[in-house]
Formats: sequence, C-alpha cells, structure tokens
Amino acid sequence: MHSSSASFVRAQELDESDSLGQYRHRFYVPAGQIYLDGNSLGLLSRDAERTLLNVLQNWKTGGIGGWLDGDAPWFTMAEALAERVAKLIGAAGDEVAIANSMTINLHQLLATLYRPRAKRTKVLIDAHSFPTDRYALRSHLRLRGLDPDQHIVIVPAGDSRFLNEDKIIEALKNPELQMALFPSVVYTTGQLLDLERICRAARENDVIVGLDLSHSVGILPHALDDWGADFAGWGHYKWLNAGPGSVAGLYLNRRHFNETGVVDAGLAGWWSVHKESMFEMSDEFFPGMGASALQIGTPAVLSMAPIDGALLSVEEAGIDGIRAKSIAMTEFIIETADAELADLGFRIGTPREAARRGGHVSLRHPEAQSISMALRTRGVVPDFRKPDVIRFAPSPLYNTFSELWEAIQILKEITATRAQDEFAATRSVVT
Ligand SMILES: Cc1ncc(COP(=O)(O)O)c(C=O)c1O
Repeated sequence: MHSSSASFVRAQELDESDSLGQYRHRFYVPAGQIYLDGNSLGLLSRDAERTLLNVLQNWKTGGIGGWLDGDAPWFTMAEALAERVAKLIGAAGDEVAIANSMTINLHQLLATLYRPRAKRTKVLIDAHSFPTDRYALRSHLRLRGLDPDQHIVIVPAGDSRFLNEDKIIEALKNPELQMALFPSVVYTTGQLLDLERICRAARENDVIVGLDLSHSVGILPHALDDWGADFAGWGHYKWLNAGPGSVAGLYLNRRHFNETGVVDAGLAGWWSVHKESMFEMSDEFFPGMGASALQIGTPAVLSMAPIDGALLSVEEAGIDGIRAKSIAMTEFIIETADAELADLGFRIGTPREAARRGGHVSLRHPEAQSISMALRTRGVVPDFRKPDVIRFAPSPLYNTFSELWEAIQILKEITATRAQDEFAATRSVVT
C-alpha cells in the first residue's frame, strides 16, 4: 500500500477509537479550516461562550450587583477559578492566582521574589526564552539598578536547537545565581524539559526557580508542588481556549507565604490586600492571603469569565487523557512527516521521544514562511516562527487525526508542486 493511503487508514482508525472525539462538537471549529494553532489561540467552545454571556447578562440586568450576586459573583471569581486551575497543575488553590497577563505576572513574581543578596545576584535563563520573559527580566533588573548584561546568565542550546538538561543542571551550580527561569515547553522546538529534575537541582543549589508554563498548561499534567517549583506563570488563551487576552495565571509555592499564610506583593494594589480589609480603604496596607495577594487591581472580569466554561471540557476529558491523545497526535504527525515529507526538505524540529515533547510539532523547512502562508490559503492554519519553523499544534479536544493527515497531504502538495519562482513571489509579498 502507498504510504499516504496507509497513513490515511491509520488516521481513520485512530479517529474511530478516539474517546475524546465527542468534545469537538462543543467547539466552534471555523468552517473549511483545519485549525492547528491551539498553542497560540485555542478555539471558542460553547461552554466558554455561555459563561461569558452569563456575565454580560448579570451586568445587563444587575449592574454593580454582579460583583456579589448570581452563581458566579465577580468578586470571588478569580479565587473560584484558581481552585480549579490548581488541580490541573498539581498545586493547592491558595498557591494560584488568576490575574493580569502572563507578562505582568512575571513582573509581579520578579518584584516579589527577586532578592539579590551579597554575591547571589544573577538570573539563569535559556537560549530559547520567549522574548517577553527576557524583556521583563531585563527591565526588572534595570529598575533595581542592575545591568542586565552582567546579571543574566544564558544556557546555550545545542546544534539541534534542543536544550540539554545536563547543561542546565551544571549551570545551576553557579554560586552567583539567585534565580532561574525556564519554559516548560520551548515555544519554538516544542521540547518539554525535565522540570522535576531542574526544580530539584535549583533547590539543591539554593536558587529560586520559576517556570513559564504558557505552552504546557491544559495540554499535559504538572506537579508543581511535588517538583518544588518556586513560581510559575501561564496564559489561558492557548491550550485552555479561554479567548484572546484572557486573564492569566500564576503559581507561588507556599514556602513563600509567611507563617500566617500572608504574602506581601512586590507590586501592590488594593486587590493585593486581605479581602476582608479591602473596603476599609485604610491608609495602612494589610497584605492578602496566599497567591491571590499577587492580584493588583480590579480583575478584567469579561476576560476572566470564559475561563469558567473553557475549563469544563478539560476537566471532563481529564488532563491524562488529553496528554495521551496529544502524544498520539504529535506521534502521528512525526511518523507521517517522516514517511511523506522528508524528501521535500522538511526536518522534524521537535524531540522524537514522547516524554520530551509538548503539544506541538515543529516542521523545519528553509521556505517555511511562504509555505506557511500557502497553507493558510488552502485552509490549513498552522503558525510560523522565524527563521524556518512551521508549528502544527493540534488540540486533543477539537482536532481529528484525519485532519492531521489532510494537512500533511496539503503541505506535501504545496511543497512538491509549487515552482521556486512562486515561492519567491510569495516571499516578496511577506517581507
Ligand atoms: C512562552 C510564552 N511566554 C509568554 C507569552 C506572553 O504572554 P502574554 O502576552 O499573555 O503576557 C507567550 C505568548 O505567546 C508565550 O508563548
């Protein structure tokens, strides 16, 4: 049998035995599209739409009453959501805050936990850190009067572009480090780091360790408390499907609470105050309890409301089931690409071992940018990352294996049949 028909049959078999197939109908899948951008912006579900409309209705009919009335009062919505998100990441509810954006949360966590002392002043990051993490860190160091070039240490990536945990562990032994910040899943390569090992090594070396979980929350299980991470941040608009700019999350290990559970926020506002004291409007600042003290001002309720509904399908499907299907999907992409795309100049840019892989597969090709644009015109929505990466990010909740098969056939067709001058023409449009 021709390899593409063998993989077609395989895709159909996988769809037939897929226990999560039922969730696709709860999402608005754009007509005529194969949507493979779940790690940039997840699709809207009917559940998320309903909880957003519910808040609008409460506002419409009750005005300011919505803060305390109804089945999801706005005043405590962040804490209610924190309890649920905490279960997804192996944390206690009071170690999680739903607040701000990922970048603001990173600033908040740096302001709260970065405490340079004596010779321990440096921060370790990796060569692939997402730009916002780097910008936030550099600007934070400058605010503290420190030169970022002197105070940031970078672990390089290898030739394969993958990070090597042995090198990270070695780098963590640097006695000048106060803090380290790593991604769970690297946004370019899709590499999943051994977070348990990294957190353990950081603790052994007395280094505060933070994790950017943007590309892992909602697609794979976490055990933040067991790993002993100090802090983490993530958004809800990727694998958690809560919509563009939805309110983000942060984790603060309880070892950073004081003995009565209080947290003194580095960046304070009236929502960092103990909730019972908030409306006393006191000149005195009474720090709030747990991670929720890292909220700053009034929550963006309309951007938080969809999280409520969006979490439902993840909770029902279960994060282990989601991870199992995600691995099967990324495996399918890799196997099919190996069989059908290798001759066309594609290389797999993601680790082949399932345990070292997040939810997306990076396909590398010198013409990735123009191919990615051509895919969109054919109804396949991937995304492109410079210089040569097309990311396929299937969601176990709304994508099918048959879609993956079809997307690869379209990719193959585009690459095989388009003449070099067509690529050049597209390139001139996109520069
Ligand atoms: C790895 C990573 N970190 C941080 C962010 C930025 O978060 P935000 O723009 O929500 O603050 C992103 C956004 O895509 C990301 O991919």
